[in-house]
Amino acid sequence: MTTVILGIESSCDDTSAAVIRDRQLLSNVIAGQDVHRKYGGVVPELASRAHQKNIVPVVDSALKEAGISRREIDAVAFTRGPGLLGSLLVGTSFTKGFTAALGIPMIEVNHLQAHIMVHFIQSEVSAASSPRFPFLSLLVSGGHTQLVVVRDYHTMEIIGRTIDDAAGEAFDKCAKLLGLPYPGGPHMDRLAQQGDAFRFAFNKPRIKGFDYSFSGLKTSFLYFLRDQLKEDSGFVEKNRADLAASLQQTIIDILLDKLRMAMKTTGIRQVALAGGVSANSGLRSAMRSEAEKHGWELFIPPFSYTTDNAAMIAITGYYRYLEGYFSSDNIAPLARMYF
Ligand code: KG4
Ligand code: ZN
Repeated sequence: MTTVILGIESSCDDTSAAVIRDRQLLSNVIAGQDVHRKYGGVVPELASRAHQKNIVPVVDSALKEAGISRREIDAVAFTRGPGLLGSLLVGTSFTKGFTAALGIPMIEVNHLQAHIMVHFIQSEVSAASSPRFPFLSLLVSGGHTQLVVVRDYHTMEIIGRTIDDAAGEAFDKCAKLLGLPYPGGPHMDRLAQQGDAFRFAFNKPRIKGFDYSFSGLKTSFLYFLRDQLKEDSGFVEKNRADLAASLQQTIIDILLDKLRMAMKTTGIRQVALAGGVSANSGLRSAMRSEAEKHGWELFIPPFSYTTDNAAMIAITGYYRYLEGYFSSDNIAPLARMYF
């Protein structure tokens, strides 16, 4: 007996649907939303309207690509939260209608846990092996930065989190100051590859325990640029690559300092990167050197599963399906959702 799960993701500005048969990914269709670009950030009202327009065609394509008919689907997994409420409502309402029509269960998924669960997807781009429990995950996205102890498919404990901005937010906000388009993270990454990472130094936070903070870095970057621009109005133009590389290096240093501490304190030897910022080439290579240095076993997700996608929702839904964790049809999405 195999299990077929349709996954639906609509927490922010990507509408995505994926089909998974057991752990094998059959399709993962993502429709991005260009409409936000000119505003320099996601506009919630526009995001929910775009989801509304995209959701049916995206699901249709995912089913077609997978070669799966509606009748073959055993359950639909959807992102309940955290995210933008209007965006989450589109995925949740779609799932309610779709599952009611087919008489199949719906399964709520926590978006953040799902980012971590990409390490259990089987596909042609997946790593040969998955992490074994317990492992530590460094989850770095646009909205969250967390250190998570993963005890099993359903039990995860956040041992550190950002007290203000997330790492992705720091990338995006600083990229904006450099005149780069939204979202700035991937542009920073590309620029940083041509720059000197040790040319400029920015403030690192002094926060106790495993928690993170990135708002001070953003302010330090802003003031530094403001002071330099007073002396030379062409400063950003002339130094863009070095600024990107130095900022990226600082973000990586901050992330790795706490990770090192958490690995040492917990005694865990396996680490799994997750979330949109895990696409960052500097972070990926710094993690490789760090893992080699300390003898950690490292799991880095394939690029295609780093940013928001429904494959991660489908794989999480699959494991919940096996346990019979179904949701009732009066379920409502949650902008803030804890685990
Ligand atoms: O996980 P994600 O797709 O959405 C959230 O759940 O937040 O993460 C999006 C974040 C954005 O801040 C984006 O700039 C960042 O991931 N990002 C990157 C890169 N690719 C995406 N940041 C740095 N380098 C990248 N290559
Ligand atoms: Zn995400």
